[in-house]
Amino acid sequence: MGREVRAGLSRPPRSISPKYFYDAEGSKLFDAICDLPEYYVTRSERALLEEHADSIVGLAGARALVEIGSGMARKTALLTKALCDRNASPIYIPFDIAPEAIDESARVLLDSHPRLRVRGVVGDFGHDFGRLAIHAPPADGTRLFAFLGSTIGNLDEEAAPALLRSISAIMVPADRFLLGIDLVKDSSLLNAAYNDAQGVTAAFNKNVLRVLARELDGEIDEAAFEHLAFYNEPLQRIEMHLVSARAQTMTLRAADLRIELAAGERILTEISRKFTRASTERTLAGGGMELLEWIPDALGMFALCVARKAVLRKA
Ligand code: AVJ
Repeated sequence: MGREVRAGLSRPPRSISPKYFYDAEGSKLFDAICDLPEYYVTRSERALLEEHADSIVGLAGARALVEIGSGMARKTALLTKALCDRNASPIYIPFDIAPEAIDESARVLLDSHPRLRVRGVVGDFGHDFGRLAIHAPPADGTRLFAFLGSTIGNLDEEAAPALLRSISAIMVPADRFLLGIDLVKDSSLLNAAYNDAQGVTAAFNKNVLRVLARELDGEIDEAAFEHLAFYNEPLQRIEMHLVSARAQTMTLRAADLRIELAAGERILTEISRKFTRASTERTLAGGGMELLEWIPDALGMFALCVARKAVLRKA
């Protein structure tokens, strides 16, 4: 963490990886974001899953669900319900950076689905993806890999296909990939979703400073930073920044870091890309996958996509 944080903060444009948002407090704040009236993302995806989870699991012929970045598995029950309805011994494989989240979500799911077998894998999807390969495809059914919540939006034009490539590399042709995608839409809706009236998103953004100070032995004056989030139309992405309200020094001893921030200087804390069907297909193709089904909601807010590993055709 020290090395990664130092690298991001040392060179322009200064940045902090969004994966550090999610300590206990940050996870609570993210939960609160999901309930905000302005934040349509979670609600839209949940409604799509309520309507389509059963047919997606059925068409995929899935016996195992592999969830990437499962977190608190807030929407997983919709998929595991379909998995349990259709299989005698269903398997759930959550993959997340936080072992506590895997524990806790396994407990909740097992309460309502006692037949489910949970095989958690702890790792960072930036580099620990190979750990999933220990769970071979079941002999009698496929695996449905799921990457929900538009988390893929955090990854830029290079990182997104790279992540998809590491997933397609461990998929077999019968496996399916379910992706939750936030769609390009009116910028006023997007700006509102990341600038909520109650200031929860601002608190979530600033909380990362507390995480850094605690984990990397530093002092950071949270009050000396402001939340900035806006839709970057040409790049089709929300950018979230922390803006230094005055000239200040930021010290993180365990990262061997001491930087001078000018008044008004920005630190990029998150990109949240928004997609169209075309840019989704391009991203999937770059990751060695092909789109099978495109399932947007009626308002064009969010889409579920089902893809498979691209079939190599002989020339
Ligand atoms: C969890 C990455 C999908 O980008 O909308 C919410 C995180 N950041 N509000 C998103 C987030 C600010 C969220 N993702």
